[in-house]
Amino acid sequence: MNNKWWKNTVVYQIYPRSFQDSNGDGIGDLEGIIERLDYLQELGIGAIWLSPVCKSPQDDNGYDISDYQDVDPMFGCLDDMERLIVEAKKRDIRIMVDLVLNHSSDEHPWFIEAKKSKDNPYHDYYVWRDGVEGVYPTDQRATFGGPAWDWVPELGQYYYHQFSVKQPDLNWENPKVREEIYSMICWWMDKGAGGFRLDVIDQIAKVPDEKITCNGPRLHEFLQEMSRETFQKGDLITVGEAWGSTPELAKLYSNPDGSEFSMVFQFEHIGLDQQPGKDKWDLAPLDFVRLKAVLAKWQNELYGCGWNSLFWNNHDLPRIVSRWGNDSEVYREKSAKMLATILHGMQGTPYVYQGEELGMTNVRYSIDEYRDIETVNVYRERTGQGYSHEDVMTSIYAKSRDNARTPMHWDAGENAGFTTGTPWMKINPNYVSVNAAEQMGREDSVFNYYKALIALRKRYPVLVDGRFELLAPEHPQIFAYTRTTEDAQLLVICNFFGEEVSNTIDFEWSDYELLLTNETENTDPGVLKPYEARMYLRK
Ligand code: NOJ
Repeated sequence: MNNKWWKNTVVYQIYPRSFQDSNGDGIGDLEGIIERLDYLQELGIGAIWLSPVCKSPQDDNGYDISDYQDVDPMFGCLDDMERLIVEAKKRDIRIMVDLVLNHSSDEHPWFIEAKKSKDNPYHDYYVWRDGVEGVYPTDQRATFGGPAWDWVPELGQYYYHQFSVKQPDLNWENPKVREEIYSMICWWMDKGAGGFRLDVIDQIAKVPDEKITCNGPRLHEFLQEMSRETFQKGDLITVGEAWGSTPELAKLYSNPDGSEFSMVFQFEHIGLDQQPGKDKWDLAPLDFVRLKAVLAKWQNELYGCGWNSLFWNNHDLPRIVSRWGNDSEVYREKSAKMLATILHGMQGTPYVYQGEELGMTNVRYSIDEYRDIETVNVYRERTGQGYSHEDVMTSIYAKSRDNARTPMHWDAGENAGFTTGTPWMKINPNYVSVNAAEQMGREDSVFNYYKALIALRKRYPVLVDGRFELLAPEHPQIFAYTRTTEDAQLLVICNFFGEEVSNTIDFEWSDYELLLTNETENTDPGVLKPYEARMYLRK
């Protein structure tokens, strides 16, 4: 059953500008990542998803690419990238390149040409509509605010952009666009890329006139063609970002026949702390029972016919310990470990976002200290609409993407060991107590807990293959499940909250061996202390 290497592995996501600076310019770079590969090897991960390092004007921190086949000087050069791939491979770590294929930068030579005239051979690389200035082809809004259309007076046309004005959407209906993309992907494969992450991939087959942004009619046709022309020529890990995925669609994306990707990121669990029908800034308390139901649904539906990506964090999401854990001094580590236990015990490939393995937390900065285009724009937009400063800041503290993007905490020294220069974004002041150097040297740290979880996955096939069953689905405080194969059973029991609770999950405890726990004092199986997590194996 377990026939793919990426089913046994754990992926680590690096946000390069915030990982490690090697040249003192205050921005992380490829050389910095190479310097930290030993750390990642120690953690035990098998692949790195590298957020974009290609040439980019950095309007959206690299998710606006102006040259898919070169590295932005901010991060180094192509030689550095090749060295990173080689050095990582020596440590049995593969590098996954982030492919941003829904849109390019408006500074990409294709777009510069496309804007020159309607007859230009590159014009059809993008999505245009004739029009009259001020009368938008549709009322669609862009994700980062404002209309999804921008006017080019010389052409008398609008171009379509689902993200910022500097991120024009590529026209996948044009076969030439698809050919260029496939040959670029093969070029990265020749360079030794071990896999790919595909940005907002469910948006590529849009039909703007019908307001179809996601899951367009030709989506899976395009993906299957891309996979045939590229990924299937190698033994890669591929993961598509698909906010609009359902389990049914995920079975297509992650079909075990390899016709599309290895797996997708679905986000159903991510939206459970916002007001229904509103956007992410409209906060609501987490619906815990629903969280269990959603995760269980994905576990059960994809069993044997697809594959899950398991994640709490990425560069777009707040830090999980501040979101659904408890980032107070007393419970930060314990709740971080509890959340990790739930995630790493499930079926799928777990992703660890840089600093998650230390229990890094959200930040509360003043508005001028935020750098993210989305955060800056939502502040402007919402205060303009009459929301109070305090209201908007509450949402930003909870959900800003910059929560995840503050520089990595390596040690308690100046600038957390991230840079000798001035960091591009303010460092979370708690680095003095929350940092890698301290945690690597302490047996009961979050870092060592993640290391143990990653090692368990390699050691016990039941973690990879076992069938999932949710226990006590309605319990308002306990998250418990089993994973079962013919010859083994794993049992995970966690108290998701900060109040002690009696353990209603009852097993013949003498038949089970405790593999891992975050609780040092409790010896009574009938009680779960605040945020207590236990992972058992049937003897
Ligand atoms: C999803 C990426 O994760 C996000 O960071 C980016 O802003 C958008 N796609 C647009 O590329």
